[in-house]
Amino acid sequence: MTASHPAVLQTIHADGRELRLQYMTPAEAPALLAFARSLRPHDLLFLPTDISSPEGIDELVEGLGTGRIGVILALDGDQVVGFSSVVRSATSWMRHIAEISVIVSEPMRHHGFGRELTEEAFRIAEDLGVTRMLAQMTLDQQSGIDMLRGLGFTPIAILHDHVIDADERTYDLLLMHQDVARFADTLRRLDADAAPKA
Ligand SMILES: CC(C)(COP(=O)(O)OP(=O)(O)OC[C@H]1O[C@@H](n2cnc3c(N)ncnc32)[C@H](O)[C@@H]1OP(=O)(O)O)[C@@H](O)C(=O)NCCC(=O)NCCS
Repeated sequence: MTASHPAVLQTIHADGRELRLQYMTPAEAPALLAFARSLRPHDLLFLPTDISSPEGIDELVEGLGTGRIGVILALDGDQVVGFSSVVRSATSWMRHIAEISVIVSEPMRHHGFGRELTEEAFRIAEDLGVTRMLAQMTLDQQSGIDMLRGLGFTPIAILHDHVIDADERTYDLLLMHQDVARFADTLRRLDADAAPKA
C-alpha cells in the first residue's frame, strides 16, 4: 500500500449512521478482534488468518508492514462492522495472485458494504501489483457467492470436504477468481446499468 492513500477512503451513510472505510493500522487490532468474536464461527472458516484469536490478529498486523497484506475496515465510531483483506501469495511463482476475504457484521448486511469493501480491496491489489484475485468460501455461503458473482468473479473449482470446523464437520470449498484489470471494467458496466436513463 502506498503512503499516498488517505487514511479514510470513503464515508458511507446508511440507516442514519456514518461509516468510515479506512486502511487498518495496529491501533484497530482490539476492535478487529471484538468484531471477529461477534461473528458466527462459520463465517470465519475461509479466512487465511484466524482473526478471532489474538495470535491471528498479531500475525495479520505483522503482515501489514510487509507489503504482502492489506486490510480495510468499515468503522462505526470505534467499532469494526466490516473487514476486507488482500493477502498476496508468499510463493514466488504465484506472486501475481492474492486472496481476497470480505466479511460484514450480520446487522449491517445488504446495505452495499460488502461491495464497497470488495471494491476497495481491488485498490490494494493494484498497489501490490497483483493481477488475479482468488476467493474461497464454503459452498453454503450463498450471499458471498452471489456478491462475488455479481462483481464478475467466476467459480473455478469445488474441493469436496476441504474445510473442517471445530465440531469436526466438513464442508465443500468453492474457489472463485477475477482478473484485477477486468474488475474495473465490471464496475464501470454495473455503474452504467445502475445509472438513471436519460
Ligand atoms: C458476503 C458478505 C460480505 C456480503 O456483505 P453485504 O454487505 O451484505 O453485501 P452487499 O450489500 O454489498 O451486497 C452486494 C451484492 O451482493 C449480492 N448479494 C449479497 N447478499 C445477497 C443475498 N443474500 N442474496 C442474493 N444476493 C446477495 C447482491 O447482488 C448485492 O447487490 P444488491 O445490494 O444490489 O442486492 C456478507 O454476507 C458476509 O459477511 N458473509 C459471510 C462471509 C462470506 O461469505 N464472505 C465471502 C467470502 S470472501
